[in-house]
Amino acid sequence: MLVVIHPNPEAASKQAAKIVADQVRRKTNSVLGLSTGNTPLATYAELIRMHREEGLDFSAVTTFNLDEYFGVPRDHPQSFYRHIHENFLDHINAKPENTHIPDGFSSDFAKTCMEYETAIKRAGGIDLQLLGIGRTGHIGFNEPTSSLASRTRLKTLSDETIADNSKISGEIPTISITMGIGTILEARRILLLATGGKKADAVAKALEGPITSSVSASALQMHGDVTVMLDEDAAANLTHRDYYRRVIDQTAKHSPERLGLK
Ligand code: F6R
Repeated sequence: MLVVIHPNPEAASKQAAKIVADQVRRKTNSVLGLSTGNTPLATYAELIRMHREEGLDFSAVTTFNLDEYFGVPRDHPQSFYRHIHENFLDHINAKPENTHIPDGFSSDFAKTCMEYETAIKRAGGIDLQLLGIGRTGHIGFNEPTSSLASRTRLKTLSDETIADNSKISGEIPTISITMGIGTILEARRILLLATGGKKADAVAKALEGPITSSVSASALQMHGDVTVMLDEDAAANLTHRDYYRRVIDQTAKHSPERLGLK
């Protein structure tokens, strides 16, 4: 796991954008896994800037969003469909037929979930999965006690997640449709972004605690290619901060492409 600690959220977001951009430049038909929520907004803004000013081309890219609220139609102001369109997809040149978001308003969820998994496989699997982390340690909406082998399915939201997300967008549904932890772990590379002191506890448990279904993000310890972008506040409870800094200095020298620096 490469853990990069930045002085502030802006620097973390920009470097995350560099890694995504580098992925898209190296493989123009990359399959990207997208996250919603507040954390990736600055990364998306930077990618939009790169698209407009530097010609970063998403025309052959395929995207799969992690999750959606249950029972929410696409055009609802709280839907993740709208969130990702308004904050990213509507401002780049990805083809609409190549962008995928779980259908939160389906009449047959078992089928919808299975088809989502099939669509990811058919696209060749996810090359780079962007993740945020919830205060409960969730990735996607895989709340504590989610099976570490779980696939795309309906998942009941925890009280903490309902409280956190309601603060942002008003009353929210209590059930989601989310990629499972097993689905996420199949991505070839994972980029986790976390900023702010509210995430410090979840980040420390995920990165340095035991692998447990009580902290879904701890499952990332089993993945061979995870990069974690943090600001100082989110990194505050980590024990091995100095070690991570040394590793990053060496990586920047010897494998700068891993950090989107080349
Ligand atoms: C969103 C998602 C969630 C969020 C997490 C953090 O698609 O899957 O796991 O990444 O809840 O949300 P923010 O970034 O709003 O703190």
